[in-house]
Amino acid sequence: MDGNGRWATQRGLPRLLGHKEGVEALVRAVRAFTNKGVQTLTVYAFSTENWSRPEPEVSGLMSLVPTAMKAHLEQLARQGVRLRAVGDLSALSPKVRQAFARMEEYTAGNRRVTLNVAFNYGGRWDVVQACRRAMADGVDPQALDERTLSRYTALADTPDPDLLIRTGGECRLSNFLLWQLAYAEMFFTERLWPEFDDEDVNQALAFYASRERRFGSLPGHHPPAAGLAAHG
Ligand code: IPE
Ligand code: MG
Repeated sequence: MDGNGRWATQRGLPRLLGHKEGVEALVRAVRAFTNKGVQTLTVYAFSTENWSRPEPEVSGLMSLVPTAMKAHLEQLARQGVRLRAVGDLSALSPKVRQAFARMEEYTAGNRRVTLNVAFNYGGRWDVVQACRRAMADGVDPQALDERTLSRYTALADTPDPDLLIRTGGECRLSNFLLWQLAYAEMFFTERLWPEFDDEDVNQALAFYASRERRFGSLPGHHPPAAGLAAHG
């Protein structure tokens, strides 16, 4: 969800107000994607690299977690959203961890849509922690294959994303879901995240609908779908 800082700076506001507005944009986007029938969303809220920002911005982003919960959790729960935090939560303050724990408990029974909040998340972190846990489990190196390692990744029980959306004009992954994005379609837009609206949701989905997905096969040749789920 890139572009919060620039959105604020353009308006002569402190960057943190951009992040606050980013939370509002997220709530709107969840509603819009859910109305379109998307069942799984994963948002990049705080990366393992974001710690290198100036301290006031880092602590501002951290305190936005409980604040955002207070403002929006109930409403999201009423919409049938199940929320989950993915990332290295052990490095977060008790306050932030508690907010995520409550968020997960409060929405655990919801089934309409799952919103994964990637927080202190990095794609490389995920691959490393998956390997570590597989080794700790005593998985035989000869037996370790893609399916087995997948089961140890942070999004093990989530189908791989069909579509990646990056706002804010950058065309890179920035260490997001490296393993899971292997066959995702990628949609890059100049729009800054706080202004991402229903029109952008429609554009992203129209882009997705226009793609022919081949998964390494040939044009027009459709191999049997190997466990691929239809979701957004
Ligand atoms: C949000 O946007 C990303 C977060 C770390 C929350 P940015 O803070 O990267 O906004 P820009 O790129 O400075 O505009
Ligand atoms: Mg940025």
